[in-house]
Amino acid sequence: MAILVTGGAGYIGSHACVELLEAGYEVVVVDNFYNSKPVVLERIREITGKDFKFYEEDCCNEVAMDRIFDENKIDAVIHFAGYKAVGESVLQPIKYYENNIGSTIALIKSMQRHECFKIAFSSSATVYGVPEYSPVPETFPLSAVNPYGTTKLYIEHILGDVYTSDPRWSIALLRYFNPIGAHKSGLIGENPNDIPNNLMPYITKVAAKELPILHVFGNDYNTKDGTGVRDYIHVVDLAKGHIAALRKILETTGIEAYNLGTGKGYSVLEIVENFKRVNNIDVPYQIDPRRPGDIDEYFADPTKAKVELGFECELGIEEMCRDSWHFIEEEKKREL
Ligand code: NAD
Ligand code: UD1
Repeated sequence: MAILVTGGAGYIGSHACVELLEAGYEVVVVDNFYNSKPVVLERIREITGKDFKFYEEDCCNEVAMDRIFDENKIDAVIHFAGYKAVGESVLQPIKYYENNIGSTIALIKSMQRHECFKIAFSSSATVYGVPEYSPVPETFPLSAVNPYGTTKLYIEHILGDVYTSDPRWSIALLRYFNPIGAHKSGLIGENPNDIPNNLMPYITKVAAKELPILHVFGNDYNTKDGTGVRDYIHVVDLAKGHIAALRKILETTGIEAYNLGTGKGYSVLEIVENFKRVNNIDVPYQIDPRRPGDIDEYFADPTKAKVELGFECELGIEEMCRDSWHFIEEEKKREL
């Protein structure tokens, strides 16, 4: 059973490759290293002791995608490849539409030509726009609040139309909440080169003294301690959620959306306090004004994934904080 993983050298894709290989699937990865490094592929091999095929190609390139399908009998695709920086998407929307939507269209056309009709797509909780209540179920009305979110929403619509046109398709729209953490080996994880936008990568850079202080964006939200509340999911749990979704799409047809989150909300200060305690390290912070576009609180209703996929998160906030930091510590040792 061969699974094509687009964006498999990236943060979530690399963890999914590990879980796929450990579950006995054959894996074919395509990535253009826009936001990842070749060494990640070696690390996946090191963790699993298993080999897999890799193509350095742009998923927007239909000819390249056709070649991958010609050379491999692909049973299903997990489509991670895409750009994900919300702020950049506001400044460069066309870049986001071109890559996120363009890669999906090229991929779908190639899949159609090769009669591969099974795909799990990396969507995002961002398709819920500004949720008015939590927990957020999959039936919540969809909207987009920035071009990145619009690409996810449009791709969900496109995949819906694809299924309507041909009921042989089997499609899972996986709406991730906030992935953090890293593989327990410390070999793969998230370590952006630029100044991070997201909370956990910023915390780890402050803990590593690469940045002086964490800016907590607002403490006047309508939440338990006034700081923003999110549903953080350990990236290894998230990767396992893909295996559960894959099993489902391999044996059915249809299109379904699934929240991948824990159903629990943690505030910014709770994350900081847990991180400090679990890792016994200081994270200085200051309260700053709200970040434009942020909302007070949202977390998933994970019931559908539990009932239909048999998937439940196993790792808690302590593992998320511990593994995020362990990966950075190991990266530092490797740099010496
Ligand atoms: P990432 O940037 O670490 O991984 C994406 C990978 O895709 C990278 O390795 C990049 O080089 C590759 N890529 C991008 N465009 C490509 C193209 N045209 N052809 C080939 N490779 C290409 O991001 P991630 O955090 O692993 O996210 C994976 C997916 O999940 C993305 O689609 C993202 O939008 C979605 N998602 C991420 C989050 C999150 O917080 N990380 C939340 C919700 C959804
Ligand atoms: C962001 C994206 C969202 C995407 C999600 C997962 C925005 C506006 N939204 O969501 O589309 O799906 O990441 O990738 O970028 N915070 C701080 N200081 C920081 C960074 C964050 O206080 O330096 C706070 C935020 O205000 C928020 C929480 O931490 O309350 C989480 O922020 P972040 O990690 O950026 O994720 P989201 O805003 O939930």
